Amino acid sequence: MKFSAAFAATVLSAVVCAAPGGHAIKRQQTDRGNETIAGLGARKQEVTAAGASTLDLAIAMLETTNMGTDYAYGDNKVEDASNFGIFKQNWGMLRECSAQFKGQTTADWNNGAALNSDLGADITARHECESFYGQDTWFSGHRNGESGLQNPDTPDIRAYKEGVFWIQSQIESDPKYLTDDTRFWADIVPI
Ligand SMILES: *[C@@H]1O[C@H](CO)[C@@H](O)[C@H](O)[C@H]1NC(C)=O
Repeated sequence: MKFSAAFAATVLSAVVCAAPGGHAIKRQQTDRGNETIAGLGARKQEVTAAGASTLDLAIAMLETTNMGTDYAYGDNKVEDASNFGIFKQNWGMLRECSAQFKGQTTADWNNGAALNSDLGADITARHECESFYGQDTWFSGHRNGESGLQNPDTPDIRAYKEGVFWIQSQIESDPKYLTDDTRFWADIVPI
C-alpha cells in the first residue's frame, strides 16, 4: 500500500486546518469512522473461514472497501512494487518471505496475481511474511516497500499501523462486526 490521492487530500486539509504557531496536528474525528458496504458481511465470513485473524480482517478492511481484489492489476505498480491479494502485499516481500514465492525474481512479479483468486494462499502468505520479518518490520515493508524495510520507523508507517490496530479494536468490540456489513476505515495521517 502506498500513498493514495485520498491520503494526500487528507494531509492537505489537515495542514490547512493546523493551528498557527506550529502545533502538532492532532488525530481528527474525521480521520476514522465506519460505513455500511453491501455484501461486506458475507465477505468477512469468507475471509475468516479461509483462516484470517481479526488483524488480517483489519488490514484488508483498511486497504479496500470491499476486502476484494478487483482493484487495478498490481495496484497500478510493477515488479517488486506490485501489490496482490486482499492485503495488497508487495511482490518484493512476497518473493522473500512466502513459501509459495520464495526465491523468485523481480521479473516473476506476475506470479503474485495467483493470490488475487486464492484467499487461503493469500492469508497463508501474510502469516508467513509476518513471521519472517516480525510484525513491526512487516508493517514497515508493507506500507513503504524496500525503503520501509530500510527505514522502518517513520511517522507514516506508525500512522498506518495505528490505523490498522484501531480497526482491529473496533472489529473486536462486538462479535457482530465479524459478520455484518460494517466497514471501519482510517485515513493515514502521520502526526
Ligand atoms: C459509526 O459512525 C457514526 C458517525 O458516522 C458514529 O456516530 C457511530 O458511533 C459509529 N459507530 C461505531 C460502531 O463506531
